[in-house]
Amino acid sequence: MSEQQHRNKSGFETRAIHAGYEPDPTTGAVIPPIYATSTYKQDGVGGLRGGYEYSRSANPTRTALEGNIAALEEGERGFAFASGLAAEDTLIRATCRPGDHVVIPDDAYGGTFRLFDKVEQPWGLEHSAVPVSDVDAVRDAVRPGRTKLVWVETPTNPLLNIADIAALATLSHEAGALLVVDNTFASPYLQQPLTLGADVVVHSTTKYCGGHSDVIGGALVVRDLELAETLTFHQNAIGAVASPFDSWLVLRGLKTLGVRMDRHCDNAERIAEFLSGHPRVTQVIYPGLPEHPGHELAAKQMKRFGGMISFRVAGGEKQALAVCENAEVFTLGESLGGVESLIEHPGRMTHASVAGTDLEVPADLIRLSVGIETADDLVADLDRALSGA
Ligand SMILES: Cc1ncc(COP(=O)(O)O)c(C=O)c1O
Repeated sequence: MSEQQHRNKSGFETRAIHAGYEPDPTTGAVIPPIYATSTYKQDGVGGLRGGYEYSRSANPTRTALEGNIAALEEGERGFAFASGLAAEDTLIRATCRPGDHVVIPDDAYGGTFRLFDKVEQPWGLEHSAVPVSDVDAVRDAVRPGRTKLVWVETPTNPLLNIADIAALATLSHEAGALLVVDNTFASPYLQQPLTLGADVVVHSTTKYCGGHSDVIGGALVVRDLELAETLTFHQNAIGAVASPFDSWLVLRGLKTLGVRMDRHCDNAERIAEFLSGHPRVTQVIYPGLPEHPGHELAAKQMKRFGGMISFRVAGGEKQALAVCENAEVFTLGESLGGVESLIEHPGRMTHASVAGTDLEVPADLIRLSVGIETADDLVADLDRALSGA
């Protein structure tokens, strides 16, 4: 059994706090130091200490984070990047060549769509955007032999659709493609896609993994060691790595991921219930609600339903913008997954880059990243914001 598999046998919170790092042999420091060094003294030419040669290739603070996130996702190897998009680009260039094809969600983070549409497509990578909650639609879009990646988010951003990871893994493998799951919204606490058959997990660690809105970062986690070698090469060759300080911040965030996620979920459940009964709200989209079309699947493959809620308001875009601007405890801002609650208008903000495409989002849609503040204050704030709109 590998050390990683051994680690995987501990409980989630134990792994979150201990995996990837042993107290420093010299000082006993319980927290990994921020190794602010670009290079390492060699003991004779090629005599590397612990394999460290140059910090683009490897840095001990980054190594600690990479071991930790691999353990949380029940993977074999983790890779940390300067942003979620840097992780995505490295993965795509490591696994696809011009002339290849990928299946992507028709409801996804706007920046991910922009990467495929405006950067990878001009280099010769074709994409088909499909609803990832529809297994047959994904099967129809796959071109055996040409499709290299089936890429899903689950829950999706911002419409919170749920993809059946196990079913998509089977159909991807039958077609010779890898299944990539962007696990940013669920976080490894709520869902471990590799255990359901996915080949690669992608994270914007900027979000729940970091958890405090103080760092931009990304990660990839895999089980297959051959794929890990390819990613190791590309991570170094492309060079979009996480800095030692950013690695330290994400690692620090991961230690409390479990307790934070439970509180995010508690607060989100309470708010989803409140919004469902509000006369100015026309639809609440939250996988934890029994009427959500992906509810049963989410209950099967996720531990809980997460901290993200989208909802639509009566009165169209004007009212949606007014609600966003009226909120006070919910901060008007992009991003998600931090301890503080955020509110945003996807059509004008995070998803402005998909306007006019198949991925365009409704103009009356509001997205909440429910934080871990006192639930009563969050409910009162939304009540005020909706009443004033
Ligand atoms: C689901 C999802 N994936 C990827 C990204 C991109 O990550 P980053 O902003 O860290 O580059 C985001 C950013 O919002 C996201 O929400």
